[in-house]
Amino acid sequence: MWRGSGKFLLQLASVLLCAFEVAARRLVVSPTTTFDVRSYGACADGVTDNSQAFLGAWNAACSSSGDVKMLIPAGTYFLNPVKFKGPCSNVNTLTVYLQGELKASTDLRLYGKGDDWVEFGHVKGLRLTGGGAFDGQGSAAWAYNQCPTKKYCHILPISVKFMRLNDTIVYGIKSVNPKFFHFAVLHCENFEASQMYMEAPEDSPNTDGIHITRSSGVVIHDSIIRTGDDCVSIGQNSTDVFISGITCGPGHGISIGSLGKYLDEGDVRDIVIRDCNISNTMNGVRIKTWQNSPSSSSVTNITFENIQMSNVGHPIIIDQTYCPNNLCDHDNDKVPSRVSISDVHYKVINGTSASPVAVTLNCSSGIPCQNINLENILLNYVGGEPSTAFCAYARTRFSGPMLPLPCN
Ligand SMILES: *[C@@H]1O[C@H](CO)[C@@H](O)[C@H](O)[C@H]1NC(C)=O
Ligand SMILES: *[C@@H]1O[C@H](CO)[C@@H](O)[C@H](O)[C@H]1NC(C)=O
Ligand SMILES: *[C@@H]1O[C@H](CO)[C@@H](O)[C@H](O)[C@H]1NC(C)=O
Ligand SMILES: *[C@@H]1O[C@H](CO)[C@@H](O)[C@H](O)[C@H]1NC(C)=O
Ligand SMILES: *[C@@H]1O[C@H](CO)[C@@H](O)[C@H](O)[C@H]1NC(C)=O
Ligand SMILES: *[C@@H]1O[C@H](CO)[C@@H](O)[C@H](O)[C@H]1NC(C)=O
Repeated sequence: MWRGSGKFLLQLASVLLCAFEVAARRLVVSPTTTFDVRSYGACADGVTDNSQAFLGAWNAACSSSGDVKMLIPAGTYFLNPVKFKGPCSNVNTLTVYLQGELKASTDLRLYGKGDDWVEFGHVKGLRLTGGGAFDGQGSAAWAYNQCPTKKYCHILPISVKFMRLNDTIVYGIKSVNPKFFHFAVLHCENFEASQMYMEAPEDSPNTDGIHITRSSGVVIHDSIIRTGDDCVSIGQNSTDVFISGITCGPGHGISIGSLGKYLDEGDVRDIVIRDCNISNTMNGVRIKTWQNSPSSSSVTNITFENIQMSNVGHPIIIDQTYCPNNLCDHDNDKVPSRVSISDVHYKVINGTSASPVAVTLNCSSGIPCQNINLENILLNYVGGEPSTAFCAYARTRFSGPMLPLPCN
């Protein structure tokens, strides 16, 4: 009884305090184009939902003009799912200056079907920076993730979704414990993210760091990603993607794919992944495609260069029989993948493999991989014996020092 009313009084006090702050702030007429969420009723008490206050500040910034800023100052802000939408027709750049920490609701009923936590959509010139953090509070949701047991599963909310944005810059943002992916970049053109720090436990399901799909001109660099699934994954219809300076691990490594699961997927081409350190991960650099793809598509002109591996399960892997958790038991699941893979370059990839097979090129028996080039590869098995390579349906070329020894 006492405890309950004490908590109530505390909440009442913080609501009154926040209301007072809003009133005080409204008296200050700001000549700048900064829209401070506190002026729209935001309250950093870690309890009150701030989605309406944040939307108020967003809408004011979005309907303004020139270079505008939405400010989220230091403090902990509880936040239900929210969509920040454009177009912001007269805005040149819209900077979301996040200094505070946002905490997601753990009540999954609040998230509509297919909805994510924070979505930015249909904007040109978005900037997301300020050193702040997104805390997806995922640990309560991970038990409800059915993807590890069902091939077609209901997807839990992504922490931050960037949807149909042009000319975006994300700089110096943290993300911890998402319910599903940390970030998803979908249908974006010219997207750059750097100086990010992402973290989730090694055993958290589907917590990919940055998933990129149907996007072009994406540059991700100089970031640290420690998570439970791929540090970076590049999905269908993505072109001109440049990934560099990523410290990855734990996690599942850096992947192209998975591809070939759905009908009418677009091609993936012109991808460079370089200057990365990958440690204590399940895979290093991977291309993964499902068998029995409903449509054909291609993966071409891919370069993996100057990658340091440390205790990585499968440092170099092409897996065209991708099927996590053995969900493909039917005979028709065994039909070869219809995703063709060609012009792949692996250059200067050194370090240690946690398994004896350091290089796996398991291509589709229906469409063998063409022009797979390996140059300057030195991967030692941590167990001591020489490392080995496995190849199936792969046309390969080798040059420079090579360990494991090439398959053919
Ligand atoms: C982004 O650019 C494409 C053309 O490249 C255009 O069709 C689309 O409307 C633009 N989106 C925004 C939000 O500016
Ligand atoms: C990777 O590690 C090496 C040495 O361990 C270091 O020199 C290099 O800067 C690191 N690269 C990244 C992207 O962290
Ligand atoms: C791939 O993206 C391009 C450019 O946005 C678009 O025109 C095309 O329809 C997309 N293809 C598929 C298969 O989604
Ligand atoms: C391969 O991709 C790289 C990086 O996007 C690009 O610079 C190069 O022109 C592409 N090569 C071909 C033959 O398309
Ligand atoms: C990797 O090995 C190559 C070939 O021996 C060597 O030239 C290069 O310096 C090594 N790179 C790193 C980062 O260890
Ligand atoms: C390679 O693919 C075949 C199916 O074509 C599969 O049976 C085998 O287990 C795979 N091997 C490796 C090493 O991944």
